[in-house]
Parts: sequence; structure tokens; C-alpha cells
Amino acid sequence: MSAPGLFISFEGIDGSGKSTQARRLDAALRAQGRETVLTREPGGSPGAEEIRRLLLDGPEDRWSAETEILLFTAARRDHLERVIAPALDAGRVVICDRFADSTRMYQGLGRAALRGLVDRLHTLTIGREPDLTLLIDMDPATGLDRALSRGTGEARFESFGSDMQARMREGFLALAREFPERISTVDGNRAEDTVAAEVLRLVEARLP
Ligand code: TMP
Repeated sequence: MSAPGLFISFEGIDGSGKSTQARRLDAALRAQGRETVLTREPGGSPGAEEIRRLLLDGPEDRWSAETEILLFTAARRDHLERVIAPALDAGRVVICDRFADSTRMYQGLGRAALRGLVDRLHTLTIGREPDLTLLIDMDPATGLDRALSRGTGEARFESFGSDMQARMREGFLALAREFPERISTVDGNRAEDTVAAEVLRLVEARLP
């Protein structure tokens, strides 16, 4: 049974501007008087934020691709149980910066061809997709420059280079073709205000 709230995720390559757009959408919906929850993955609940540190700190070879999938999925399960599902049940709009599509891409396509494992684990332990996913599409070189200049100190994923960015971008666009009902692609190579206006229009079309 679907929940009364609306579950929105933002996806895209590193440096796509999706976190900025998620924040702007949250502010715009709040200004309309709607109750929202702005959250992120990996993380979003105290337990999942601890798992985030395990995942993003340390050397690149700290975890095998399979272990990484288990950790991202464990974090997601905690986040879903403690934050996302209760908020949706209470009728709120949940805006999540990355969700399962990121695992399908980064672990299922990027590090190894493990999409089958990602999907099976998702079905077994998560079993829920966003109502709407906004894919912020971005030129991979621009995205990489922006991500590197930010320097968050979360070293494991920042060491991935331009080839990986380009493959992830193609992978996300293919995913949008695979799930055309759920995923809307937004051209992120435009002024921030223009992108924010399109995002709000797409979301308003789904709101009661
Ligand atoms: P962020 O920069 O959007 O906070 O995401 C942190 C990194 O984690 C980013 O490089 C993508 C990566 N990631 C995965 O590899 N798999 C996942 O399932 C998620 C949610 C993020």
C-alpha cells in the first residue's frame, strides 16, 4: 500500500548540483506551507551516518565491492525504518539526496558488474522506490571540477577520476530510460534558478 506522503529522490554524478537543488526544493515546498523532511544517503539517521563514515573515509580498497553493497544497503534499511517510512506515513514530503539508484550505479556498474546483487538485496531488504526521482544531468568534466574543488575530506569516492564520472553519467541516463515513469531527467547545465524552477514544476505535478 502506498503511503500518503510523497517520496522524492535526487540522483546524479558527483558535482551535478543535486544537493543544492534538493535544498532549494525543500525551501520552496516549506514556503508553500508543506511539511517536508530533507535527508541524504548514505546517512540520514544516526546509525546510517555512522555507516557513512565507514564507507567514505579511508583508503579506496578498504572494502570489497560486495561488502560495500551490504554496508550501503544496511545504512538504507536503518534510514528507511527510522526516518523515511515514518515521515511518509505522517503525510510528509520526503526529499532524499541519493537513494537506491546510486547503489545501482556506483556499486552495480562502477566498481564491478554487480547490478544483480544490488537489485536482489534491494528487493529483499528495502522493497521501496521513490515516487519520483529527479536525475540532475551534468557534463562529467564540469561535475568533477566542482566535486574536487569542494574537498569534503570524504576521500574514498573523491579519488575516482573522469572516466568513472563519464561512465556514471551514461549509466544514470540509461537508468532513466529503464524507469521512465519514475525518473525525470533535468538538464543541470543551466542557471541554478532555471533548474530549480523546472524541479519545482515536476514535483508540483505529483503533489495533491
Ligand atoms: P554525496 O557526495 O552525494 O554525499 O555521496 C557520497 C558518495 O557516495 C558519492 O560519491 C556517491 C557514493 N554513493 C555510492 O557509491 N553508493 C550509494 O549507494 C550512495 C547512496 C552513495
